[in-house]
Amino acid sequence: MKTFTARAHGRVNLIGEHTDYNGGWVLPTTIPQFTEVTLTIEDSRSSADSSVTLTTSKERKGQYRLGHEQKTGTWIDYLQGATKLLRDSGLELGAFSAKIHSTVPEGSGLSSSAALEISFLKALREAFNLPLEDVELARIGQRIENEFVGARVGIMDQMACSLATAGEALFLDTQSLTYESITIPRMHCDLLVINSGLAHQNSGGDYNTRRAECEAACKELRIHSLRELSEKDLPQLDQLPETLKRRARHVLTENARVFRTVQALKEHDLSTVGRLFKESHASMRDDYAVSIPEIDQLVEITAKQKGVFGARLTGGGFGGSIVALTEKNLAQSISEDVCKAYREKTGHSATVLVAR
Ligand code: GLA
Repeated sequence: MKTFTARAHGRVNLIGEHTDYNGGWVLPTTIPQFTEVTLTIEDSRSSADSSVTLTTSKERKGQYRLGHEQKTGTWIDYLQGATKLLRDSGLELGAFSAKIHSTVPEGSGLSSSAALEISFLKALREAFNLPLEDVELARIGQRIENEFVGARVGIMDQMACSLATAGEALFLDTQSLTYESITIPRMHCDLLVINSGLAHQNSGGDYNTRRAECEAACKELRIHSLRELSEKDLPQLDQLPETLKRRARHVLTENARVFRTVQALKEHDLSTVGRLFKESHASMRDDYAVSIPEIDQLVEITAKQKGVFGARLTGGGFGGSIVALTEKNLAQSISEDVCKAYREKTGHSATVLVAR
């Protein structure tokens, strides 16, 4: 019997939302919460045995046969999608059982699914000696979502879960997949991540609708991708119908905000980072329409606290989490006040995931 263990952390996106499937730029970093997969291969199993047995620390169980992967609409699809794509590309896998343990809350906008895909792919890579680099694992993770699960996500989450390191943000060009590590100036600030308690889902219709709207905008503008335009091209958007104009305007301005945030982080100019967070949230709420009233409240309550540079919705939206930047050593006390005020205003319980 041989066992192989691999881990992938969840991610929080600092800025650059809904830009990845438009060929744009993003700035995610890891969170302490992670998913860990332990694969066991029994020596006694014959080479014809193709069974996969799954168990999770949340008492969920699953089973399927390699070569017989079938969409179920549940968490097992992320794993079935992985083995199907690997085998379809000609790589050999044998029977195994997998134990999954995760501390990334599902539906929190912090990439619980990418962390599951990447930790599983990393464990399979080790167990079956697969010749796959970390970037290739991210590409496969995205294909699992696009081709098997039915969520037309970009590649940010999988790249972050596969490559990002703690304390650094991954400044990623999602078209070329080139990236630079940007140090978060932790001697001057804390990062705060709060889960609103209202779950979101990327495979739900709204996410795919936003993507389709961006494609429609490109078609009208006769370009391949919104990446081709920058802020100086904003007047060009006037020819679009109002909704498409707003969606495209978010993407163009958000890309610019990613570059400005990177510059401000390098200069330790946290007030500017905070202002960019605020602008990003307004753009997601008003132009891209991916926020919900409870998240707006959570952002507003957080941004109002003394010592907060800025706060915004993070991830795909329609629920999920917010990210904020605070003065050093204040995140913990601020988060307690925020959760209390949020509960009073909305009746929902928020959870603090990162306060450091
Ligand atoms: C989800 C998707 C990502 C990205 C974000 C929004 O997390 O998985 O690809 O599009 O939403 O920035």
